[in-house]
Amino acid sequence: MQQTEYMQAEYRQRREKLMAKIGGGTAIFRSSPVAVMHNDVEYAFRQDSDFFYLTGFNEPEAVAVLAPHHEEHKFVLFVQPKDPEKEIWNGYRAGVEGAKEYYGADEAYSITELDEHLPKYLEKADRIYYHFGRDRAFNDTIIKHWQHFMRIYPKRGIGPIAIEDPGPILHAMRMIKSPAELELIRKAIAISVEAHNHAREFAKPGRYEYEIQAEIEHIFRLRGGDGPAYPSIVASGPNACILHYIQNNRQLQEGDLLLIDAGCSYGYYNGDITRTFAVSGKMSGEQKAIYEIVLEAQKQALACIQPGNPWNQIHETAVSVIVEGLMELGLLAGNKEEIIKEEKYKPFYMHRTGHWLGLDVHDAGVYQHGEQAQLLQPGQVTTVEPGIYIGPYTKPVEGQPEISDRWRGIGVRIEDDVLVTPEGHEVLTAGVPK
Ligand code: GLY
Ligand code: MN
Ligand code: MN
Repeated sequence: MQQTEYMQAEYRQRREKLMAKIGGGTAIFRSSPVAVMHNDVEYAFRQDSDFFYLTGFNEPEAVAVLAPHHEEHKFVLFVQPKDPEKEIWNGYRAGVEGAKEYYGADEAYSITELDEHLPKYLEKADRIYYHFGRDRAFNDTIIKHWQHFMRIYPKRGIGPIAIEDPGPILHAMRMIKSPAELELIRKAIAISVEAHNHAREFAKPGRYEYEIQAEIEHIFRLRGGDGPAYPSIVASGPNACILHYIQNNRQLQEGDLLLIDAGCSYGYYNGDITRTFAVSGKMSGEQKAIYEIVLEAQKQALACIQPGNPWNQIHETAVSVIVEGLMELGLLAGNKEEIIKEEKYKPFYMHRTGHWLGLDVHDAGVYQHGEQAQLLQPGQVTTVEPGIYIGPYTKPVEGQPEISDRWRGIGVRIEDDVLVTPEGHEVLTAGVPK
């Protein structure tokens, strides 16, 4: 329940940095609720990433308030109060006192007292920072308090006149990982790497996809991870052409490729790795031809990762290599620039080449600022994951060559997690061979 001093200082720094940017405003963050799976059986609790980033507080039904303009209480937590009866069923709670003692809140209250105490932190604010989320009832609570201050605004001439989403400010912070965050990402990745390497040893014709999934996820927990960062994809043969294949119930056949996209979550930070390999150790000519294109696309895309380079160059480079490769194989035909501009490659490559990685697998942070692409900066962590998928349904766009059956059922993706460094980049997942 208690945070180390190191992490307490880390969360405090994050709050202070955010508060320096919101100045006269008050920011309100809602924890995840308790989520019900069916009847009164609950899902494993997963804290809201923004909330966790700022507090490290890992309980449901809580609200964090940052009020930099308040004289005494700049960080306030509303939490579930201590309740031995409830704690016997659902686990220990820090409670109101614990929120102050262990989580550094300047003041804390029971969540049941939100309506009573929240106005103190809004009355001098020039705006409210709040992300309208799925919890309608809580959205209404925020609107109710805001409307109250708007109603009395003519008498006071101060008060929160706007509600602004904190995302653009907070997510720009989350996009650049601190040393403490990188430690956790490296740990999540180390476990993911071990699991992938074990899976490659373990996979052979006759095994079922779920057996491999079980081996992978066994290692995730065995090493202290929270579990899979996302539903593990263990896709053999033609299943590799289904991007989010998670049934994982097919028996591996001689001659199959196996695509494994699996990552461990550790302390809420995530690994995200994909490897594709031949189950019986040797690829067919067609499989190898496709694999080599994806590998080259990834290699060239990785080379783009340097501070100052635009984010979209990674994707554009991968697309260019994939188009060129598919043209050489006769799977695309015509003018390369036109194929790219008109996205005629999309039946084979329909997703982006990467995403930010962190507390969320598809992490916070923008990719584009209007006309201007996001520039790469040290501290960002991105995946690089080109692929080619020629499934039973793959249909060339009009005017493009028919697909011969020998290509069908081949799906390849290679995904690494990459840290942007001052000098260039570091492939964090290099421990899994390609
Ligand atoms: N496994 C999710 C992704 O690669 O984005
Ligand atoms: Mn992935
Ligand atoms: Mn990914």
